[in-house]
Amino acid sequence: MRIPFIAGNWKMFKTKADASAFAEEFKALYQGTDVKAAVCAPFTDLQTLVDAFKGTGIGVGAQNVHFADEGAYTGEISVAMLEEMGVDYCIVGHSERRQYFAETDETVNLKLKKLLAGPIRPIMCVGESLEQRDSGELFDFVRSQLVGGLDGISAEDMRRVVIAYEPIWAIGTGRTASPEQAEEMCAFIRKVLIDLYDEDTADEVILQYGGSVKPANATEIMNMDEIDGALVGGASLKPADLMAIIDF
Ligand code: 13P
Repeated sequence: MRIPFIAGNWKMFKTKADASAFAEEFKALYQGTDVKAAVCAPFTDLQTLVDAFKGTGIGVGAQNVHFADEGAYTGEISVAMLEEMGVDYCIVGHSERRQYFAETDETVNLKLKKLLAGPIRPIMCVGESLEQRDSGELFDFVRSQLVGGLDGISAEDMRRVVIAYEPIWAIGTGRTASPEQAEEMCAFIRKVLIDLYDEDTADEVILQYGGSVKPANATEIMNMDEIDGALVGGASLKPADLMAIIDF
């Protein structure tokens, strides 16, 4: 039984003061909800959110991490640093990191392995560009991201990985994939997981859709059989909007 899981991705928005104000408002709205929720925030907001959400059931996620234990990697943050703060999730391989910061399937794989050695659950992002969709390469491409990113990850660890299908053309564009397009790819992802692992493992993995999810389209997306959650960018910046999506 997969429990619905909605995560916000604030990207590079919100100072500590903004995060604190958000948390106070969101905590009150979330009380008594049984849908799982998390907010993935900039590193500088994480401690504020961990403290504010203690005992509420709301998770906190980072948006990136380095794969080395420690070392001369100016500007980077390690898994141990996130663990010490009490972070629950970490996004890995978001298309913006692949596009602007040279993230590859290989670095995604190294990051997943490092996270899975500890308690933090990775949210691994995959998804095709518009050109890849139009040329019909979308399924081969997403399969290659899964095969590369999940290389060497055991079935037991795989159950702790959340996969977010985020078609690049639907991110921040207001152009949502239709529920049928999102469902088709999520069903494909689950088939790939059956190939790579087995039916029981594939059945337990939480699949999120991400790309212009809003209160107005959350219900039809969440009603799809293979879609268990959403990774929400812009609409996660306002507590009431994020809550309306959680209340789909
Ligand atoms: P938007 O919801 O703003 O389209 O962003 C989606 C996303 O990239 C979440 O990770």
